[in-house]
Amino acid sequence: MSQATNQSWGGRFSEPTDAFVERFTASVTFDQRLARQDIQGSIAHATMLARVGVLTDDERDAIITGLSEIKGEIERGEFDWSVPLEDVHMNIEARLTDKIGITGKKLHTGRSRNDQVATDIRLFLRDEIDVIDAELVRLREGMIELADREADTIMPGFTHLQTAQPVTFGHHLLAWQEMVARDHERLLDCRKRINVMPLGAAALAGTTYPIDRHVTAELLGFERPAENSLDAVSDRDFAIEFTSFASILLMHLSRMSEELVLWTSAQFDFIDLPDRFCTGSSIMPQKKNPDVPELVRGKTGRIYGHLMSLLTLMKSQPLAYNKDNQEDKEPLFDAVDTVRDCLKAFADMVPAIEPKKASMFEAARRGFSTATDLADYLVRKGVAFRDAHEIVGQSVAYGLKTEKDLSEMTLDELQQFSATIEQDVFEVLTLEGSVAARNHIGGTAPDQVRAAAQRAREALTAVKGEAQ
Ligand code: ARG
Repeated sequence: MSQATNQSWGGRFSEPTDAFVERFTASVTFDQRLARQDIQGSIAHATMLARVGVLTDDERDAIITGLSEIKGEIERGEFDWSVPLEDVHMNIEARLTDKIGITGKKLHTGRSRNDQVATDIRLFLRDEIDVIDAELVRLREGMIELADREADTIMPGFTHLQTAQPVTFGHHLLAWQEMVARDHERLLDCRKRINVMPLGAAALAGTTYPIDRHVTAELLGFERPAENSLDAVSDRDFAIEFTSFASILLMHLSRMSEELVLWTSAQFDFIDLPDRFCTGSSIMPQKKNPDVPELVRGKTGRIYGHLMSLLTLMKSQPLAYNKDNQEDKEPLFDAVDTVRDCLKAFADMVPAIEPKKASMFEAARRGFSTATDLADYLVRKGVAFRDAHEIVGQSVAYGLKTEKDLSEMTLDELQQFSATIEQDVFEVLTLEGSVAARNHIGGTAPDQVRAAAQRAREALTAVKGEAQ
């Protein structure tokens, strides 16, 4: 501030803060987002202080009433945020003192902004994780139900993006579901380490007041107080863990996005995305662009960036709190918002995917996708696998020359390559026969897909509400 020294720490200063430095060091423009959690933490702190006799019951009540009113002012957009007051914590405390006088100044007893901010971010992230958890549940449900519906739908499976073997669309969707299920597990696992309370660590060494950290932890729904005060104020692992979760999730969503983009193209023509998820072109009237998956794919980059920011922010930091840590908030906030939006987009979009079954089937029919089935057929008739591979290779070369798929060749044509081939070969050369034959756990057979969807449903039910 340019006129006088900052009241909350100005005592030892002989000149006012440089105007630029004041702006440069302030965080209130972005950390006001923590206001709700800051007030929640302060109410718990004041309650605990009264419980142990550091505040009177009247002082506690005045503080809680004042804070509740401030919460209302902030929610209604009436609160006057001040940059000279640096951050959300000092803004709220100054307003409290405005409102209730000297008692407001007692709130900070036995506390520091260092343990306060660490507590606020954990409370914030815990709240956000519960929203993200619900979106992940919705997305997984959408994938499972669509997979079950499409258990019999045949499409080409790819390796190297070349047609490899036929699979069912339901099987493909359940592969997506597995990725997201692991992300979900990572999210709930990281929540456990978020749910530990720094409050009471004060600046770094704890406090001389007879605080009861178990009371505050319980009031705030934390699993336990953090074990070590130095670690409590400086640890930001939880933010790194969350952005790691977010990075892996977005990596998965970008893979799915890429497939959706390919599949909606005229060249693949595997699916339709409803118009509400697409936009047009201002110059090419025929265009319908898959913007939503494209944008999700694009947003992956900023999430990776936030992970890198936070890892680098924490690198080499000596114990305990350092001002560097103020830089944790913007990447974290943006990661939270981006993850939430991308999950919402996907949870809305996946159930609306319209498979173009005939086109998928036709694509699987081209490209000799049952070549492995022919080889396996020969092996079952006693041919060694390497020889079978050679025989099928010759059949495919013939098919390329004559523009015929294996199932379109006559028995005579097939028998040019092996006398072992008989009439029953056509059972394995059909796409339906090919997928149905992969009938084991984890396989693509429609019955297996339906069973896997059922198991996925049960696993999801078991995990639902685990966080709360
Ligand atoms: N605005 C600070 C942050 O976000 C709050 C803690 C500041 N503590 C301090 N001693 N300057 O990290």
